[in-house]
Amino acid sequence: MNKIALLSVMATTLIASCVLDEKKDMSQQLKDQKAELYQKESEGYQLLKDKCYVCHNPDAASHDELIAPPMAAVKMRYRMWYPDENEFTAALASWVLDPKPEKALMKGAVDRFKVMPSQEFEPGDVQKIALYIYQNKLEEPEWFAAHEKNMHGRGRGMRRVIED
Ligand code: HEC
Repeated sequence: MNKIALLSVMATTLIASCVLDEKKDMSQQLKDQKAELYQKESEGYQLLKDKCYVCHNPDAASHDELIAPPMAAVKMRYRMWYPDENEFTAALASWVLDPKPEKALMKGAVDRFKVMPSQEFEPGDVQKIALYIYQNKLEEPEWFAAHEKNMHGRGRGMRRVIED
């Protein structure tokens, strides 16, 4: 290989590696942006875990162990009444900030568990929780899907039917 050819190979390699570096930078930037998004989402999730899952526990081993309906069931009911994101989050926030039996959509749950107690929140926290619930799939207890099927499937009446 003569000198000129060698130089041009080196130059090409150099340019290629610069382009690659730039690409790497961009993908890192994208990753950072995603991490930031995830952080925002997970703030809602952390709040949900801290403030709600104590009672709306997705790990409840059976229906009999519940002390409140699973949040996935609550979400289903609220989505049915309020399919729109803004209405959903407003209704959920209104409930959480001031739970009153006459406002309840889940009357059966109020009868079974007694009305949910209210808690103190930092401003904006309830909205973050409500948005998280609306926008994400929630964990649900393992028996929950079968329970829903029992409630709404053809076997209703033959099997044990559990309200809410
Ligand atoms: C101390 C236990 C407890 C905690 C903590 C709790 N809940 Fe509840 N929640 C209940 C019980 C019990 C019910 C079922 C009776 C009722 O509807 O009031 C309920 C019902 C609900 C309902 C359905 C209300 C309706 O229309 O019938 C929503 C929505 C709800 N909870 C959201 C939340 C959210 C969001 C959080 C976290 C910010 C939360 N809950 C924290 C006990 C709790």
